[in-house]
Amino acid sequence: MEILRIQDVTMSFGKMNALHEVNCAVEPHELLAVIGPNGAGKTTFFNVITGKYKPSRGQVFFKGERIDGLSRPQIINKGIGRSFQVVNLFPDLTVAANVRIGVLAHQKQTLRLFKNVDKMAEVDQEVERILDLVHLGDEAGVVATTLSHGDQKCLEMGMALTNHPALLLLDEPTAGMGPEETRQSIELIKDVWRKTGVTIVFTEHDLDMVFNISTRVLVLQSGKLIADGSVKDIRNNPRVKEAYLGEEA
Ligand SMILES: Nc1ncnc2c1ncn2[C@@H]1O[C@H](COP(=O)(O)OP(=O)(O)OP(=O)(O)O)[C@@H](O)[C@H]1O
Ligand SMILES: [Mg+2]
Repeated sequence: MEILRIQDVTMSFGKMNALHEVNCAVEPHELLAVIGPNGAGKTTFFNVITGKYKPSRGQVFFKGERIDGLSRPQIINKGIGRSFQVVNLFPDLTVAANVRIGVLAHQKQTLRLFKNVDKMAEVDQEVERILDLVHLGDEAGVVATTLSHGDQKCLEMGMALTNHPALLLLDEPTAGMGPEETRQSIELIKDVWRKTGVTIVFTEHDLDMVFNISTRVLVLQSGKLIADGSVKDIRNNPRVKEAYLGEEA
């Protein structure tokens, strides 16, 4: 069964439609890219899924259940994790302490409250597992703000994974990175995807990267979904080429 369905979603801000009658679905274990020029509606797409905004019209379904209108915490608890276009961490805490906060919050929420010291070992193990997953095992004791920008984004992804999401939304995970850092981050995303089986929907401006790793690509332009298909389809789609050339012109 599909994990996510966006049905006739319109999101208006005043007279402007940031999303306009968008229809699409995501299957489990996809690594799906959402692309489009600046202001196309990519972040808004994430914001209506995660409950930051309730769509003006239309519905959002997660695992068949309607979620639009639910609060952000309710949606997170259903199994949707996200990272933001701008880094979002506890800056003065160490890398491990950041992840620990996420792990503790998850354990509390699943009512596995620790009655004894043994449980703390379980927390430590989970922190270690997540740090290994995002390749930050060696940085566990480092204060979060002293990490490189790329590593901070990795940590943010680790934080999102503490909740064991079935669906992970990554809004420009490589924003502000140079080419080499971008390449490494994309590899990491692919690695996490392979190892955990989580479904990932991400946005990315570097189209070579997108075409390199995605299982499918959605293209937004001025709030409309103008294409939805395989990498091959999207590469050769004249409307997509026009959307991008139009931006450069
Ligand atoms: N809260 C808001 N209030 C008013 N307008 C908004 C709001 N959020 C987004 N918009 C507008 O909606 C449109 C789509 O914005 P959005 O941030 O979703 O684009 P984007 O594709 O993520 O762009 P970028 O590539 O620059 O991140 C833009 O015109 C933006 O100004
Ligand atoms: Mg955006």
